[in-house]
Amino acid sequence: MQIILCDDANQVAAVAASWFQTLLAQKPQAVLGLATGSTPIKLYQQLIALYQQQQISFAKCSSFNLDEYYDIAAEHRNSYRSFMQNQLFDHIDIDPERTFLPSCSSQDNPRLVGQAYERQISTMGGIDLQILGIGSNGHIGFNEPTSSLNSRTRLKTLTEQTLKDNSRLFTKDEIQPTMAMTMGIATIMQARYILLLATGKSKAEAVKQMISGPVSANCPASILQMHQNAVVILDKEAASLIEEQSYLRNAANENQRLISRYGLNLGDL
Ligand code: PGA
Repeated sequence: MQIILCDDANQVAAVAASWFQTLLAQKPQAVLGLATGSTPIKLYQQLIALYQQQQISFAKCSSFNLDEYYDIAAEHRNSYRSFMQNQLFDHIDIDPERTFLPSCSSQDNPRLVGQAYERQISTMGGIDLQILGIGSNGHIGFNEPTSSLNSRTRLKTLTEQTLKDNSRLFTKDEIQPTMAMTMGIATIMQARYILLLATGKSKAEAVKQMISGPVSANCPASILQMHQNAVVILDKEAASLIEEQSYLRNAANENQRLISRYGLNLGDL
């Protein structure tokens, strides 16, 4: 696990955006794994700015989102499809036909939808770079604590904590979905690179558990300790409970030098 310590949320976004630039320079047809939530919004703003300055193009990319609420219309203002259109897709040159979310209505069989999503990811060659946030309870995607570490895309019931954390986005008269389709933990772990972004004090305990706690289904993000290319990008508050910060800064600088020299490790040479 590589841990990059940043001063603030803007720097977290800038560092994450530079990973996209490196990836797309090396592989313009990269398959992106995208996330919703408050954390990646600044990253998406940076990517839009880079696109506008013609420093990055998504024209040959495909994307798969981590999750989508169960039985929500794509046009609903709180669907993750709407989020992605508003925050990113409508402002860049990605082909809308190649942006995928695990949408599942009550008319669909969620098992078949999950299997089809997995197949689609494989058909496109697998995810090169997966963006993750982390829940205050340690979830990644909507893989809540106790999720199988070997899980695949499926329907999950959201915890009280997650419902509470996300309730800010729903008005009083809107029904907040209590279930979601989410990539599984094994799906996420197959990505060639994973960038987990965390900002703010409310994430500090979950970040500590992820990095230095045991690998446990009680903190799904802790599985990233088993990933070959997991990169965790933190602001000061999210990193406030992490020890050995000077070592981490040195290691991150060295890793950056290696990537500048040899490129990203995207498969067989
Ligand atoms: P947030 O959500 O970015 O809105 O804090 C992160 C998550 O739940 O994965």
